[in-house]
Amino acid sequence: MHGETVLRVRDLSVQFDSIDGTVHAVNNVSFDLKRGETLGIVGESGSGKSVSMMSLVRLIAEPPGKITSGSAMFITSDGEVDLLSLSRRQLSRLRGDRIGFIFQDPMSSLNPLMSVGAQIAESVRKHTQLQRAAAKTRAIELLEHVGIPGAKQRYDNYPHQFSGGMRQRVMIAIAISCNPDILIADEPTTALDVTVQAQIADLTNRLCKELSISVIWISHDLGVVAGLADQLMVMYGGTVVEYGEVEQVYAHPRHPYTIGLLGALPKLSKTEERLVNIAGAPPSLFSPPTQCPFADRCPWVFERCESERPALYDVGGEGRAGVVRSDDATDGRGSSDGWVDSHLTACFYDLERNRRRDADEPVAVRPGALAHEEQG
Ligand SMILES: Nc1ncnc2c1ncn2[C@@H]1O[C@H](COP(=O)(O)OP(=O)(O)O)[C@@H](O)[C@H]1O
Ligand code: SF4
Ligand SMILES: [Mg+2]
Repeated sequence: MHGETVLRVRDLSVQFDSIDGTVHAVNNVSFDLKRGETLGIVGESGSGKSVSMMSLVRLIAEPPGKITSGSAMFITSDGEVDLLSLSRRQLSRLRGDRIGFIFQDPMSSLNPLMSVGAQIAESVRKHTQLQRAAAKTRAIELLEHVGIPGAKQRYDNYPHQFSGGMRQRVMIAIAISCNPDILIADEPTTALDVTVQAQIADLTNRLCKELSISVIWISHDLGVVAGLADQLMVMYGGTVVEYGEVEQVYAHPRHPYTIGLLGALPKLSKTEERLVNIAGAPPSLFSPPTQCPFADRCPWVFERCESERPALYDVGGEGRAGVVRSDDATDGRGSSDGWVDSHLTACFYDLERNRRRDADEPVAVRPGALAHEEQG
């Protein structure tokens, strides 16, 4: 049973002008984020994970960046608004207030000349009505909340006196200090050692579940998002290649790239330990995606893959293969538009049946045409 949608992104495309030509960084990306749930976004470096999320809140440089299509409905009890239609000024108010961030490098977000406690208190004051003393008390509570021992004493420490993991805890404290609706975590644990990674991931997950904050957790490592995410979105070459419930995607990966990623997960048993690399290089983003972006690396490639870009097909449960459900009633707040609990993949080859999909199959969803609730 799924909750309400808090963020509904459809058909998002982002390009960059560069001296070498136009970079098609993000192409027709669509997804739903449910209240209190975690969406994991995985894909190798350069697949468009950061640009797609940053462009939602206009944290990309424009120019050279440009959002060329899409909508991003942010749905709260106050109503819904298309983030892409807001001014930079309106968005800057939403950032930090309703949409929090944690990035890979906390040092770049923390002020080295200000104590960590004062930085949390400042954020608290900015986003609440609390006065100075109350904000300090709240900041100490938040430090305790994110597991900093001796929070009261550590309040006056500077960022350089904290370890990488503790600095990331401070960033989490700042991000949740205003109780946002959404937390976007962009590879926040990548620079940390494995044990600390797991602790930070668990902490974020636990706090966000407690506070009903929806999380978008970006990682190049499928293993990291495994235990965290409710839904998983796999990106490749600036496109969504697979999307679904995390258990479903793990148990039944349907895109050759996802299968490759799963193969690349280190096996738990020592004797089985191996890293299977997917041969080949990611696609050039200089030409528009008019073919399957994975064609050059795919073991199943056939002619059609090189002349047409695959739509997203629903490969979900029994009796649903190939059909994106459109019969779900919405509750007026966009809690269901019929595909969020689908398992979608952008591949012309039906790996389950070991056959090519019918070229005339009418039920595939064209990239960018996912917002079928708008089609009446
Ligand atoms: N300012 C920019 N100018 C040109 N290309 C850019 C710019 N920012 C990002 N890109 C390109 O967009 C693509 C997606 O980048 P990104 O979203 O950062 O990847 P990921 O987060 O998945 O590693 C990359 O090919 C990157 O080179
Ligand atoms: S569409 Fe073709 S090339 Fe692309 S992943 Fe599927 S089988 Fe491979
Ligand atoms: Mg990135």
